Amino acid sequence: METLGVNAKVSANDCKSENISRKRKIAEHRKSLPVASVEHLLIQEVHRNDTLVIVGETGSGKTTQIPQFLFNAGFCRDGKAIGVTQPRRVAAVTVAKRVSEECGVEVGQKVGYSIRFEDVTSSSTRIKYMTDGLLLREALLDPFLSRYSVIIVDEAHERTVNTDVLLGFLKKVQKTRSRSLNDSLNDSLNAENMHANGLVVENGNNGKYASSLRQYRGRKLPPLKLIIMSASLDARLFSEYFGGARALRVQGRQHPVAIFYTRKHVSDYLEATLITIFQIHLEESPGDILAFLTGQEEIESIENLAKDKIQKLPESKQNIVVIPIYSALPSEQQLRVFAPTPPGVRKVILATNIAETSVTIPGIKYVIDPGFVKARTYDPNKGMESLIVFPTSKAQALQRSGRAGREGPGKCFRQYPEDMFYKLEDSTKPEIKRCNLSNVILQLKALGVDNIMEFDFLEEPPRQAIFKSLEQLILLGAVAHDGKLSNPVGHLMARIPLDPIYSKALIVAGQFNCLEEMLITVSMLSVESIFYHPREKLEEARAKMKCFSSLEGDHLTLINVYRSAEEFLNKKKLELSKEKVEKSLKKWCKENFINSRSLRHARDVHSQIREHVEQMNLPLHSCGDDTIQFCRCLAASFFLNVATKQPDGTYRDCASGEVVQIHPSSVLFRKKPDCVIFNEFVQTNHKYIRNITRIDRLWLSELAPHYYALQN
Ligand code: CDP
Ligand code: MG
Repeated sequence: METLGVNAKVSANDCKSENISRKRKIAEHRKSLPVASVEHLLIQEVHRNDTLVIVGETGSGKTTQIPQFLFNAGFCRDGKAIGVTQPRRVAAVTVAKRVSEECGVEVGQKVGYSIRFEDVTSSSTRIKYMTDGLLLREALLDPFLSRYSVIIVDEAHERTVNTDVLLGFLKKVQKTRSRSLNDSLNDSLNAENMHANGLVVENGNNGKYASSLRQYRGRKLPPLKLIIMSASLDARLFSEYFGGARALRVQGRQHPVAIFYTRKHVSDYLEATLITIFQIHLEESPGDILAFLTGQEEIESIENLAKDKIQKLPESKQNIVVIPIYSALPSEQQLRVFAPTPPGVRKVILATNIAETSVTIPGIKYVIDPGFVKARTYDPNKGMESLIVFPTSKAQALQRSGRAGREGPGKCFRQYPEDMFYKLEDSTKPEIKRCNLSNVILQLKALGVDNIMEFDFLEEPPRQAIFKSLEQLILLGAVAHDGKLSNPVGHLMARIPLDPIYSKALIVAGQFNCLEEMLITVSMLSVESIFYHPREKLEEARAKMKCFSSLEGDHLTLINVYRSAEEFLNKKKLELSKEKVEKSLKKWCKENFINSRSLRHARDVHSQIREHVEQMNLPLHSCGDDTIQFCRCLAASFFLNVATKQPDGTYRDCASGEVVQIHPSSVLFRKKPDCVIFNEFVQTNHKYIRNITRIDRLWLSELAPHYYALQN
């Protein structure tokens, strides 16, 4: 007992001194960042200007330091908060954790974050990191963003659709807050009363915006300070949009990076990446490696192949660890990329383009850039949105190589020949020009912007895309023919943080008495692939998948997986501790070739959406064994995505007329039913539809008469 005590004391002391030295290191690191030397200047500029554009090299300390400067300068007096928006969930989470550590507080207290499906803030939170989409949702309840004294829109150069919409919205809020509040309130309420058409308080969903506005009567709000931060050098666009706002540049530090190209065109960039990782490891001096891949699936496949390869290296060369980072990864695993490795161990980080600018990882000396990125595209004529792997732009390639030169000279291995680089587009097309806008339109309408054409966009989306998306919302019943949100469906849909088509499915499912099933379905559809099929164990994986398969299709198959996992968990919960339960679930997933990270994410999403659904008083019933009932509900929800079989065995998408095929991962791949609904359109070498359920074609005119009667 005695010795134990002494040991415990020693290790507690060890911990303490380790803590102190970490604190000291962090303090030194903060002082060494390029923004540290311009703190006073920055604060002065914020006092003088309501809107500022700040451009600075990635890693100069913009995201982690500037909000702290503002806090220290008193911008959170009177209980106001500083809001910092990020296009990516990962960045919001990791940065909030880092800044809490720098401030010596627990995350969720003074410093917190809020992302869809995860809110780690409290009433004492003063620096709040969040996704740009989340701030837009907050605005539904607080239209003048009265909690905030400053909003920082970070990573604006990424030009995600949410960033663009947010900038337009903030411009409006800023104007309103600088006018006398009561004047603008009266204007807005008058407009809103007309808009809500006298339906204001009937069932709590109507005129939500109007009732949100009334809370401001008689209150005073200080002007809203706005800071737009960007890693790219071109600040002009933002500055001009905000009426010639002042733009500042933070001088960064960048060491030279040697660029290497392949001699010939590479046919399999994944294989090339894998080979390059090991070449660097075996031939180059110490330093961590960052490889850019396009998504979770690619990352996991390389992760597994690399781990196998490491096992086969001589023991003296096994000093290398592989760490993935991508959006859907549980947040504590995302933080692993920042943890230092033991001396002499090389870290290989496999990242999506989140590591391009949003997340700065220390210690990187080598970058591998295959030159691709997964991005959304939208064909407004066909109304089809898909995720496609594209070549990066030149600007992205430069950002990626820059990651190797943060702390010293580095090397970047581009997995393509040099002449390819010169053929790349200069910069990436903003997302608003290449995505389905139904979500944006729904949100803007909920924020009181009825006429989308009049909204002051940073860059206008294509008109055709606006029309097509509006048409989709009308068909879903979210928007009435007068262009306003419908009541109550449109208002309910705007409150659920999902794609409009999924929000609608939940509302429909309430009427079909199968909301329990639909809740599981949309949660499983909101994550990346649940099934994991490694190339070398394909047959075994397929056999396991059969245990969950439903003859009706993928939706019920996903429900079977979810429920089997729940059943397994409930059984284990009786026998094991919480930690062991999680571990045994992981093992269960592995045995069944299920992606445990995706499943976990789906369970989180499920519990969050469940809360929304409960708050909205939608009836949470199960249809039990009545699978036909559920399939009918799927048809009623996803009637916009129907494909029918043609004589040659391919399918035709009814809405666009496009010829598509059933994706090989579907349980209906071989069965080929006559008529199906689907949730996803995937374009690789072929055009595929994914997440499919068979339906009876005759149901359609009964369940979606407004669409199918028209079509016929
Ligand atoms: O926003 P910007 O790219 O200018 O830099 P930042 O994200 O504020 O990062 C400043 C420094 O903090 C970098 O050197 C990062 O490596 C470090 N950092 C970290 O060590 N851990 C984090 N979770 C976030 C940042
Ligand atoms: Mg940053």
